[in-house]
Amino acid sequence: MPTLNKSKILIVDDEIKNIRLFKAMLISGSYQTFEAFSGEQALEMISGVNPDLILLDVIMPGINGFDVCRKLKLADETKVIPIVMITALSEKAHRLEALEAGADDFLSKPVDHSELLVRAKSLLRIKTYHDEIRARNSEIAEQNEKLRELQKIKEGLTHMIIHDLNNPLSSIIGALDLILLKESALSQKTRGSMNACLDYCHDLKNMILSLLGIHRMEEGKLELNIEGSDITELIMEAMQQSEFKAIKSQVRLSANDSNAPHTAAIDRGLIKRVILNLLSNAIRHTPIGGNVKIKTDLNTTDESIRIQVVDTGNGLAPEHHKKVFDKFEQVGLNQEGVTLGSGGLGLAFCKMAVEAHGGKIWVESEGEGQGANFQFTVPVKTTVKG
Ligand SMILES: Nc1ncnc2c1ncn2[C@@H]1O[C@H](COP(=O)(O)OP(=O)(O)OP(=O)(O)O)[C@@H](O)[C@H]1O
Ligand SMILES: [Mg+2]
Repeated sequence: MPTLNKSKILIVDDEIKNIRLFKAMLISGSYQTFEAFSGEQALEMISGVNPDLILLDVIMPGINGFDVCRKLKLADETKVIPIVMITALSEKAHRLEALEAGADDFLSKPVDHSELLVRAKSLLRIKTYHDEIRARNSEIAEQNEKLRELQKIKEGLTHMIIHDLNNPLSSIIGALDLILLKESALSQKTRGSMNACLDYCHDLKNMILSLLGIHRMEEGKLELNIEGSDITELIMEAMQQSEFKAIKSQVRLSANDSNAPHTAAIDRGLIKRVILNLLSNAIRHTPIGGNVKIKTDLNTTDESIRIQVVDTGNGLAPEHHKKVFDKFEQVGLNQEGVTLGSGGLGLAFCKMAVEAHGGKIWVESEGEGQGANFQFTVPVKTTVKG
């Protein structure tokens, strides 16, 4: 970084006597001076000298001062070097051209000694600030790069841990399932506790699968296994899987009577998890005695199937309609009768999975206490590569 008394000044003039004069004037400032006798020579010297200030004569044979100035101000590495144009021409037009070429200042010949020193000092001070800012910026860029690398390592570790949690959890679920097979051997209290454990384990498993799914989609590593699937059949499967939750919560679960068979081009496993997530949310947010209904309809205009999960529960205020699809976003919690989800990941997963199919997902709700209608679309024909 240049300090004021060691600053390098490049003097560009085709006349040796002018160069000598400038050098003599600058002696009192104890600058390091360099000389170039033409525009071409100046341009050649720039990268080697790396000056902090250039005194540039305008009229020179070959490349004139205006053109040298323009070239230097266009290049990233040299644009911050302050340039003082030295002109014998005092007319306004030439001064304007100097400014238009990007010169930072100009002096008219014959150059006044103290004026030169004052201007050089002030431009060198500005250059020092520029250099400091540049150095700081590159330090920040370096630190950012290190942080990005650390973040990557951290994400990799977190991902590995989440992945490794899946196996023991599946074993616990298997063991609980086995114990519950011998229901008659268990007291009602034990059975209740076992079922609650199983529920929590399924919630945890859902969270793990959502996190892994989100991670894979964010990394662009998720490969969709697209096949023609019967949506009505898929909904029935998801409803069966959610039945226990609904009974326990005393919520009526039903599907539209007029559900015609619809075939969609989807990754069956992913879309089933989307439906399961929406059902699980709807059941959780619907008070005892409420209803959760699934409807499907075909949109012939854009050849998509819409699936709606409608509940008579707490509903959502309009300001939360978009937000709930963000990761870790949970709203309206701690209301009476509303239990916490595992972590605000379900809808973020649903959004990514639906959008990966080229579909859309959104919620309609008149407001809190008015029920919610979460709906998404999937294409009838493949729009994405499997
Ligand atoms: N049917 C619904 N009615 C009212 N609010 C809902 C409904 N579904 C979701 N929400 C709101 O959206 C938030 C985000 O839902 P999301 O499924 O992403 O997370 P979660 O259910 O809290 O946790 P997770 O799904 O990870 O177990 C919920 O916490 C809840 O505030
Ligand atoms: Mg959820």
